[in-house]
Amino acid sequence: MAILTVKNLVTTFETDRGTARALDGVSFALEKGQTLGLVGESGCGKSVTSLSIMRLLPKPAGNSPEGEILFDNGSDRFDILKQPVENLLKIRGRKIAMIFQDPLTSLNPVYTVGYQLMETLKVHFPEMSGAAMFKRSIELLTDVGIPAPDQRIHEYPHQLSGGMRQRVMIAIALACEPDILIADEPTTALDVTIQAQILELMRKLQQKNDMAILFITHDLGVVAEMCDDVCVMYAGKVAEHAPVGEIFNNPKHPYTQGLIHSIPKLDTEQKSKLFEIKGMVPDLFSMPEGCRFQNRCPHATAACKQAPVPERVKDGHEVSCIRHAEIAAANSTPPGKSGLE
Ligand SMILES: Nc1ncnc2c1ncn2[C@@H]1O[C@H](COP(=O)(O)OP(=O)(O)O)[C@@H](O)[C@H]1O
Ligand SMILES: [Mg+2]
Repeated sequence: MAILTVKNLVTTFETDRGTARALDGVSFALEKGQTLGLVGESGCGKSVTSLSIMRLLPKPAGNSPEGEILFDNGSDRFDILKQPVENLLKIRGRKIAMIFQDPLTSLNPVYTVGYQLMETLKVHFPEMSGAAMFKRSIELLTDVGIPAPDQRIHEYPHQLSGGMRQRVMIAIALACEPDILIADEPTTALDVTIQAQILELMRKLQQKNDMAILFITHDLGVVAEMCDDVCVMYAGKVAEHAPVGEIFNNPKHPYTQGLIHSIPKLDTEQKSKLFEIKGMVPDLFSMPEGCRFQNRCPHATAACKQAPVPERVKDGHEVSCIRHAEIAAANSTPPGKSGLE
């Protein structure tokens, strides 16, 4: 069952140069208890997607998104975009919580860890006593693997290491047992060992709470480890959407193929140059007509001036590339005689 269904989401910003269309018809579904990866290079619209879902776009530049964002946990069902502002505080935290790359931007430097945890609990469980909130805060810090939580609870964010701060942010996010956790590059700023610990913690907590995760990252290694399904974004659109195995073993969009190729492999020779997708994401005011990837695509032809629509490759696998079948056919042609020599 889809707990979150995003349909044709369009998000625009007012800028000095005019209206920028940061998301241009994004659709995907997040299943209950599962992890959906949102991947793509910097600037492709991942954070704008998460801020649109949370209704936290910066004002006044960010316009109200168009489209639908349906939440449905079985007992509650509503379109987030149609909710009056006063309902949003109840949705944020209780139904959907979010963690960011840099915990210092969301933790308040002047309050202790315990104060911030208890403030969150107070908003959502006003009937809870002070003692119960303190006890619950210690439990939450224990759950996220913070040693000596009875001491840490009295500390300020700057007294903690990066990994510990990220754990505190996760504890705050989980304080209200949300149905959905949106994690926007949660481990990008952490070193590899700490990153692995945080990812493992997220998986553990997800199972415990049967929580759905929208996992935003540009790191395909993390995607392989964390995600059930993957939505590949390019320049404000969804290029491809498929189960994680399909994305890695049977990518259909030339952009996805490029991303997969650019992952460093342990078995390739050190000398061989890392593949990279040439060029840059076009800026929002100079998008090519038709497919947005065409100016970087090794397979582009005149046909790509026509806008692609999502096509079903097989169950759960959709690709937005007009030429995907031709490209696949060309790639699977057996090598000619000279190729065998
Ligand atoms: N406040 C804003 N005003 C204008 N444009 C913005 C704003 N925030 C984001 N954008 C634009 O939206 C696009 C998507 O940005 P973002 O979602 O942050 O990318 P990502 O998270 O994938 O790196 C970019 O082109 C960015 O410049
Ligand atoms: Mg981002």
